[in-house]
Amino acid sequence: MRKKIVAGNWKMNTNYDSGLELAREINEKVAKANLKGTGIILGVPFILVADVVKNVDKDNIGVAAQNSAAWEKGAYTGEISADMVKSTGAGYVILGHSERRKYFKETESILKEKTELALASNLEVIFCCGEVLEERNDNKHFEIIKRQISDSLFHLSAGEFSNIIIAYEPVWAIGTGVTASSDQAQEMHSFIRKLIAEKFGDELAGNTTILYGGSCNPGNARELFSNPDVDGGLIGGASLKADDFIKIIESF
Ligand code: PGA
Repeated sequence: MRKKIVAGNWKMNTNYDSGLELAREINEKVAKANLKGTGIILGVPFILVADVVKNVDKDNIGVAAQNSAAWEKGAYTGEISADMVKSTGAGYVILGHSERRKYFKETESILKEKTELALASNLEVIFCCGEVLEERNDNKHFEIIKRQISDSLFHLSAGEFSNIIIAYEPVWAIGTGVTASSDQAQEMHSFIRKLIAEKFGDELAGNTTILYGGSCNPGNARELFSNPDVDGGLIGGASLKADDFIKIIESF
């Protein structure tokens, strides 16, 4: 059985104090929430990763970095390696977010390297994919998602791939208040699961968690999560408000 997950992506928000306070507040509320087995992950800025790990109940909440380097170690000033992330106690890293692809020119081949290093450091990877509006309007969205996933992930072994969580995040829905419709999300998630099944077989595809991301909020989470192939969400803006984040977690 695949796991239901709600992950927060704080992006470049909060600072050390306010971020730690938010993590503690979420931790307290999660302890009282009706989780129904839902896994929770907080994707926090690098400066907070180690201390958020120490300040949340690890039985309920996992911690993710939002990026890790495409090199193992060495003279790469300012970079943070997968091994460094792992050494904080974090269990996850978010890779391939559309903002990283857009502003930091991360390509499929760079993400292939990053993914390999993250898996080699025993991190689970939340691998993001998503088309821009023009690609959807040109009816190229399936082709784009297929390329993003297969070029960065389909060289992995089945064992390695079992540590991948996919997050489908249509770029036109991120931070815009425009959510993919329930049907659009289900259609793409089912397409992604079929791709995985063709490559790795039905069992692994059935066990892969596929999250939806893009303007997911307490008002639309329940409908999105009710789709058979939507296993939870990667939440940006709404993950910065503890109450909204908890409501989304309780939307299954
Ligand atoms: P959003 O961001 O929920 O603010 O749209 C989602 C994401 O970018 O992961």
